Amino acid sequence: MKLMLHKESNMPLYEQIYMQIVQRVQGGILKAGEQLPSLRTVAGDLQVSLLTVRKAYKLLETKGYVFIQPGKGVYVRGKRKITAKPEDPYEWQRSLPVHVARSQYLMNRQKKYYDFSQAVLFPRLLPTQFLADEMKEVINRNQMLLATYGPVQGDEELRAEITKYLKDHQGLTVNPSDLLITSGVQQGIDLIAQTLLKPGDTVMVESPCYGAAIDVFMNKGMNVISIELDEEGIRSDVVEAICQKKKPALLYINPSFHNPTGTLMSVQRRRELVDLAEMYHFFIIEDDSFGEIYFDDLTLPPPVKQFDKSGHVIYLKGFSKTLAPGVRVAAVAAEGPVFDWLYGVKALMDIGSPLLTQKAMIPFLKTNRMKNHLEKLRTALQIRRDMTVEILSSLTTAAFTIPKGGFNLWVGLPDSIHSLVLLNEAKKQNISFLPGSACFVHDPEHQYIRISYSLLSDKDLQIGMKKLCEVMRDVQDKHSPYPFKS
Ligand SMILES: Cc1ncc(COP(=O)(O)O)c(C=O)c1O
Repeated sequence: MKLMLHKESNMPLYEQIYMQIVQRVQGGILKAGEQLPSLRTVAGDLQVSLLTVRKAYKLLETKGYVFIQPGKGVYVRGKRKITAKPEDPYEWQRSLPVHVARSQYLMNRQKKYYDFSQAVLFPRLLPTQFLADEMKEVINRNQMLLATYGPVQGDEELRAEITKYLKDHQGLTVNPSDLLITSGVQQGIDLIAQTLLKPGDTVMVESPCYGAAIDVFMNKGMNVISIELDEEGIRSDVVEAICQKKKPALLYINPSFHNPTGTLMSVQRRRELVDLAEMYHFFIIEDDSFGEIYFDDLTLPPPVKQFDKSGHVIYLKGFSKTLAPGVRVAAVAAEGPVFDWLYGVKALMDIGSPLLTQKAMIPFLKTNRMKNHLEKLRTALQIRRDMTVEILSSLTTAAFTIPKGGFNLWVGLPDSIHSLVLLNEAKKQNISFLPGSACFVHDPEHQYIRISYSLLSDKDLQIGMKKLCEVMRDVQDKHSPYPFKS
């Protein structure tokens, strides 16, 4: 277990230790029954006093995350106490230092039938038949595709099509030579972090934030600062206040239909962020995964990147939320020397993304198919959003803002309901959702859940949401808000 302290942070050291261990427990890195390193080991590694670590461990115990066995050690608490079997062939791995602080993907691996936990599209809303036929065609036409490496930067024809697509759908002007194809937006975020950041650098993120972006920054040892959102998006006045105190290297934002809250950033905010980036010289990662999924014929503000004239904004466009998550294709738009740096690191990562799936997308983007498909997709998702909102409105205690686009509804729970208790009960009814704690950097807030209305059929969505509302009523009536106490 590798913990990191930011000694210049306002957060007391014992709280930093506490939070990092909580994140490992919640993120599934530390399993129930696993022993924590001794006070002495942690104090020695982090160069802090034994008292500091003792305070952190005591807090973990009080909050119910660990239990202390006098004379033996401190263990992660769980429903079942898992003791390693003596013949466990992997036991030796437990003694190695782990450099992974958290992972959203380990957190909620047990999917349920009524699955509201994934921001993924119902498969029948996707043009999978067309893409499958196209892939067969591509291979039959040119079998040499499999016998060669593609360009590191990505297929030239695809980059030209994506350039047109960005102009038509986002009003964004970019040059095909400034596009780099990555295996999904997720790889784009990781690539930028790996290229531009070093451990200890300050990274600003929205609070709440897309959990797997937090994971990337935390796992690389960044000092991650979360900044609250209001109805216009991330608070630019708070960004400025941070810039005056620290020297942030990067700001990660998801301005159009933000995951998890669905917030659409105002034009004014977009301009202000670019002004700040220019003034304080930090990079902005603009994650535009959901930009095409708007409802009620909304007119979308221009991307943040459109206001950028000096290479401060690195724009990411994904196709997982519109076309096919399985093709793993996204584009990074960046100008200036940073483009070459990203290119170099991408080559080291995987020598370029797979060519077959890139080629298969081209005919879909080239014709009117994409435009027609997006229109149908927006209608289908708007129906799902409306259904979800209507059913949830029967609960007077659930607080939410109706999203104008995207896949997610961010729901505030009454104080008496803890999201993990609710999840436990929901799972018994074959329902899952994302507990809001996955979307916070420091104190994981347990008063929120994210409901993704994208993955189920209309019918299952309706049945699942009604069941979830029943579970919420039941939990509110019966259960204690305390998460781990057995
Ligand atoms: C905001 C956001 N960014 C990135 C991703 C990952 O996208 P991709 O499949 O393109 O890697 C997701 C997936 O849920 C997301 O919600």
